[in-house]
Amino acid sequence: MLHGRIDGKAAIPARDGRTIARIVRVNHAGEFGAIRIYSAQIVVSRWFWPDCVPALVDMLEDERRHCDLLFDAMPERKSRPCRVMRFWSYGGWLLGFLTALLGRQGIWACTAAVEAVVHRHLDDQLHFLKGRDPDLSDIILSIRDEEIAHLRHAEERLVSRSVAFVALRGIISLATDTLIWLSTWGDSTRMARALEADGR
Ligand SMILES: [Fe+2]
Ligand SMILES: [Fe+2]
Repeated sequence: MLHGRIDGKAAIPARDGRTIARIVRVNHAGEFGAIRIYSAQIVVSRWFWPDCVPALVDMLEDERRHCDLLFDAMPERKSRPCRVMRFWSYGGWLLGFLTALLGRQGIWACTAAVEAVVHRHLDDQLHFLKGRDPDLSDIILSIRDEEIAHLRHAEERLVSRSVAFVALRGIISLATDTLIWLSTWGDSTRMARALEADGR
């Protein structure tokens, strides 16, 4: 069974179409969560760590643009925002708020952990999209470049190698994966399975 494309581009198998719709939905939820994380960190940083604010504002602008790009990519791929965006909304805000209260190292540990998880997901997706959806591939490539810049910025500032911050980074990675799973009702797992079935 083939999954038609409304703009007249080549039809792709229905299963691939569903995976592509999931990719857009998962990424849109993630970008929304990133917006909430950086927004909360900016609120705290304006009070306690004002030197972090300019970089966080730049990253927030990037995340807003990423979110808009993915939202615009949804209709053509028969995708919709996930049903429980509030998980990302409250979870992301709380994560940003609490890590910012820990200080600059908390902020950069959070950014490094989240961006590393995002980077891993994007690489998997790019592999899957190759030859299937070049337009979405281009969007994700442009987003990935900026996520790598966020990751580098955080890692360059992450000087603490204490057990507490290493553990914090691990916990945030796990929390990010869990939030992705919850916010998409397991779509991220089904997507990973689909990517695996594709030979990853
Ligand atoms: Fe982003
Ligand atoms: Fe980012």
